[in-house]
Parts: sequence; structure tokens; C-alpha cells
Amino acid sequence: MSRSAHPAGPRHADVLPEGHYSAPPTDLNLLDPKVWASTVRRNDEGVVTVGGLGVDELAAEFGTPAYFLDESDFRARCRAWADAFGTDADVFYAGKAFLSRAVVRWLKEEGLNLDVCSGGELTTALSAGMPAERIAFHGNNKSHQEIQRAVEAGVGRIVLDSFQEIARVAHIAESLGKRQRVQIRVTVGVEAHTHEFIATAHEDQKFGIALAGGQAAEAVRRALKLDGLELIGIHSHIGSQIFDMAGFEVSARRVVQLLAEVRDEHGVELPEIDLGGGLGIAYTSDDDPREPHHIAKALNEIVTRECEAAGLRTPRISVEPGRAIVGPTAFTLYEVGTVKPLEGLRTYVSVDGGMSDNIRTALYDAEYSVSLVSRTSDADPMLARVVGKHCESGDIVVKDAFLPADLAPGDLIAVPATGAYCRSMASNYNHALRPPVVAVRDGEARVIVRRETEEDLLRLDVG
Ligand code: LLP
Repeated sequence: MSRSAHPAGPRHADVLPEGHYSAPPTDLNLLDPKVWASTVRRNDEGVVTVGGLGVDELAAEFGTPAYFLDESDFRARCRAWADAFGTDADVFYAGKAFLSRAVVRWLKEEGLNLDVCSGGELTTALSAGMPAERIAFHGNNKSHQEIQRAVEAGVGRIVLDSFQEIARVAHIAESLGKRQRVQIRVTVGVEAHTHEFIATAHEDQKFGIALAGGQAAEAVRRALKLDGLELIGIHSHIGSQIFDMAGFEVSARRVVQLLAEVRDEHGVELPEIDLGGGLGIAYTSDDDPREPHHIAKALNEIVTRECEAAGLRTPRISVEPGRAIVGPTAFTLYEVGTVKPLEGLRTYVSVDGGMSDNIRTALYDAEYSVSLVSRTSDADPMLARVVGKHCESGDIVVKDAFLPADLAPGDLIAVPATGAYCRSMASNYNHALRPPVVAVRDGEARVIVRRETEEDLLRLDVG
């Protein structure tokens, strides 16, 4: 059985049965490079460092809880994705995983494009100088204002998600005297997650227009008729935290089949397909994600083969990885506040954050790893549950993990692979102050998103 809980909903929470735990690691001080950002090490004093800076100094300067993001690792991952796909394809970083103006500048410098899915993300992208033509705008219910702003800014593409939106975007573009480049998002009847995919009956969801029943073909028919739209391709996104390429294979085949139908009916070969994001990362040592070049090779082969079979020119491919770029580059640093052994059960370790900085465990049953990072320890492993400080028993950060039995208040522990969907889904529950994101690179640390303050809370509360 896979140890990976599906990150997109309890429906798929493929977790280990109650009472079944992996054996404790032989050395709790070891840091598995699979789950930690690339510059993370333990120094001679046993303190974990990132970008050459010790977590003890980082905690003293920036406080806890805080996210520390390894900028070199982020940039290297951008380059790996860009290099793997080459100049005949486009990589769009999915900003929903984590977006800030510093991130936008890194993406720009490393040659990536950006997928945004709200007016807020669009504003962040534009305000940090991302050229509009390198932005794709997503969302299943974009507002009139959001569409208008995107069209006015000149975004490279808007991904159309419904019949209403086809008409809406066309109308707005026409009224602005523009022709907007668009893709149509289709649901291909494939849902992929972790190590499996399900190839039927997953049209029951809010995104996209179903291939089934000729709906996507009808969407293409309508889009091609509208002067305000330039239909450049078809988009498909099949799920999250995917390790198995088989789902992409079915999705690509079905999208190419639609391209062939469009050619036969309209005499038009749409020049692009986007296969979405969703590529998995290692949250624990049991996960084995694929490298970008494997993914690029597999996707290129699938699309080329299917197009040859259909007698189509191979379209330009794009992908939208979010988690796979930013996820592994950050960890959350916490200070231990209390350690509560429950006889015969487990030890509850309370930290100074919780579900407000990482909702994924509560929401998706997601699994994480955790390590003592301010020192090493030779103590025996204890089965621990890392919990937050919120007024809720589901406030769990790491459900089951082994930590050294001498863990004590004041120790620093860190949860790796929290770069994606943790800060971006953080909340003010219990009036918690959302933690800062600190970028670390070559011995320098710099706040890229500052910690919220109580003044911020009061400023929103207008009394
Ligand atoms: N493209 C589209 C159209 C998407 O909907 C998504 C994610 C992505 C790209 C990026 O997927 P990624 O490569 O990051 O997996 N909050 C959940 C994940 C929701 C993903 C929604 N869409 C989580 O924490 O796991």
C-alpha cells in the first residue's frame, strides 16, 4: 500500500491502517536528501543549516514558526524544468503553490512562465514585472473585473473553463478591441493521484468542459466563431501529487483525439496543448518522485506518438508544475512548547504553529516528515504526533513520526517539503499571525513575505 495520502481530499486518503507504522529510522539525526531542500545539512555542532545558515541563528533572527526557502534550490528546479522541456515547450509555474514578488522575479530570471488563478495572483505577477505575455490566467469562475484586467494587461492566454466564460471573455475582449489568446480546459475522464489513476467517471467536478458527450467539441465550435478569441489549444489538468505517468498518457491521447476531431471538422490544427501540473514530490522517504527530464521525455513521447498516429503536427506542449518546483525547497521551523507522553499510545509534541501554517494534514490527511534540527540526539526513537497550538484536536502537523525521546521544550524541529500549499493556504484561525517566508541563499537570509503582526489583524477589523 502506498504511504502517500492523496493531497486533494479525504476521499482518496490512501493511508496506512491504524496501528501500522514504519520501523523507526536507524539514525534519527540523518536528513534524507529526498525530502530536504538541496543546501540543507547538519554542521559539526549538529545544527541543521540551510544555505550555510544555522537554524538556531535563523530562529533567533526571524522567530518561529517560519518558512525557510532555499532560493538556490528553487532556481535550480526552475532551470531543471526549463532545460528538460527545452525551447519547443513552455513551463508555467503554478503560482497557487506559493507566490510572492521575489518568486516572480526568480521565475522571470530563470526563464519560466507563470500560471495565475486569481486577480490577487495576477497583481502580484504584474507588480513584480512578469511580462504579461508570459502569464496564463486560470480559474473556474473568473470575475468580469479579473477577465477585463487580464485582457487589458495582455496576458498570454486565458484558460476557458465553461461555456459562459467563452462568451464572457469574447465579449470583454471585443469591447476592448482585442483578440485574446485562449485555451479550453477539458475534463478528459481521468483522475490521477499518487501511484494510481482512474480512467473513467471523473467528470463529476467543477473544472473544465467534458470531452464526453461532445461538449468540448461544442466549446471549440463556439470559440472558433468568436472574433474576440484566438483559440490556441486545449488544456487538461488531471490531479495532484502524481507519480504514475499512465494518467498523463490517457489524458494526452484523449486531448490529441480532440485535436484530430477539430482538424476534421474545421480544417484547423490547434497549435498547443497544456497537460497541467500535479507532479508529485517526496514528503516522506517512501515517496519516489520522477525527475523533470523523465517527465518531459515521457510526455513528449506520448504526445508525439499520438499525433503521428492521428496524422497531426505535434503541437507545442506546456506544463504547469507548482508543487514540484517550490514544494521541496522550503521547511517550516517550529519551537517545541510542550511534550506530553500518553502511556501506551504516543507522545504529543506541541509546536508554536499548527493548522494555520499547514492545513494539509488536517485537510488531506497528508503525510510529512519531521526532524530535530537544533541539535543531534542519541536518545531512543519515540513515536510522536506533532500538533499545533490551535483549539482543535484535528490540529495536527505530522500525524506519526519518530523523534528522539529526549525532545524537550525549547528544541527546534522542522518539517520539510512545506514550500507548496502551506503559506499559500495559511489562515488566521484563532487570530494566529501568518509566519514569514525567509529566502536563504549563499549565507544570506532575507524576508520575502513578512510575519503578520497583531496590528495587521486590527487593521482589518474596522470596529
Ligand atoms: N494547473 C492547474 C490547472 C491546477 O489546477 C493546478 C493545481 C496546478 C497546475 C498545479 O498543480 P501542482 O503541480 O502544484 O500539483 N491544495 C492542494 C493542491 C491543489 C492543486 C490545485 N490545482 C494541496 O495542498 O495538495
